[in-house]
Amino acid sequence: MAGSLPSQRHHFDIPGDVAYLNCAYMPPMPEPVRQAGRRALEELAPWVATSKSFFEPGERLRASLSALIGGDADGVAFVPSVSYGVGVAANNLTVGPGRTVVILEDEFPSDRYPFGARLAVGGGEFVVVARPAGATWTSGIIDAIDERTAVVVAPQCHWTDGSAVDLVAVGAAARAVGAALVIDVSQSLGAYPVDVAAIRPDFLVSVGYKWQMGPYSFGYLWAAEQHRSGSGIEQTWIGRKGSDDFNRLVDYTDELREGARRFDAGEWSNFTLLPMAAEAIDLVTDWGPARVSAAIAPLTARLEEGARRLGLMPVAAEHRLPHIVGVRFPNGEPAGLRDRLAAARVFVSLRANAVRVAPHLYNDAGDIDRLLEVLEEATR
Ligand SMILES: Cc1ncc(COP(=O)(O)O)c(C=O)c1O
Repeated sequence: MAGSLPSQRHHFDIPGDVAYLNCAYMPPMPEPVRQAGRRALEELAPWVATSKSFFEPGERLRASLSALIGGDADGVAFVPSVSYGVGVAANNLTVGPGRTVVILEDEFPSDRYPFGARLAVGGGEFVVVARPAGATWTSGIIDAIDERTAVVVAPQCHWTDGSAVDLVAVGAAARAVGAALVIDVSQSLGAYPVDVAAIRPDFLVSVGYKWQMGPYSFGYLWAAEQHRSGSGIEQTWIGRKGSDDFNRLVDYTDELREGARRFDAGEWSNFTLLPMAAEAIDLVTDWGPARVSAAIAPLTARLEEGARRLGLMPVAAEHRLPHIVGVRFPNGEPAGLRDRLAAARVFVSLRANAVRVAPHLYNDAGDIDRLLEVLEEATR
């Protein structure tokens, strides 16, 4: 769809006195996604569900998700969480003694723990890239990559403050030393373009409930072609070849389904969550990540400018993605800030010493000004 995006507030049920600026935590559920859930519950009946009901809706969602990331439907798997998806990646990559996993300082724990477990068992160590002062992460990550690097784990922007990583450049640096790239796009997919054809990650992982607008517990994994002969975390029946023929489920087989379907979590064909997730991906695709990004940018720019006027330290637009802005305080978090935010019904998160501001298409300049008022009072 061409043209700029108008406000989408009509899709969201947000009380008039709430300034909700916390999409990076979770957005209110869009009405079309709620409706898809209600419809799914009303239509759910075991005498209607055939073996096709377990597979076909998932195939449609694999296609729409893959279109959103510039990948192919065969590479898509359904996972309940990022920790699960990163666990699949960690289990299917080689690390070992003397090798390293490059990861960002203060990275989300779901990206770190699965590799921590992998290193504890198989050897190797983390190389942690320090948070850059007044820059993007990209050069720090590239500098940390050397011949010892086995895996680079990176997001498109840091979950605490929106600071950006150029994943195309990081991917090229990783490939140059034969290292794998695992990306967590939970904090950008849907709000900023993601293109696996350009980034060429080995694995991409994302939640489905943040900028992706779907329900909690339904996320995504995309695996590059060279990893589609690996194995998943579980021993599910549904991940086996021929599992769509329910008559033959006890013809046990070690052969797995084609493509990344072998990594799907058990019971992925959830009859309520999957239709909601599919509706959400259609909605986000219809908006278009580039248009979402362009529509949110003026709001974070307004916050950035206002915060700077107050003597605070927002991440500058050139060092972050347009949809999230972290604001730090020269003298630490002001006393009483949390109470003031709650009293004013202004919703943001405090993450790693930053106020993380994450607007979406339901916000306007008035919401940003309400936050700026609270920040002004708290720092006065
Ligand atoms: C970057 C990032 N990854 C992942 C998650 C969620 O991880 P999980 O699905 O394992 O709960 C979050 C939640 O805030 C996040 O910010």
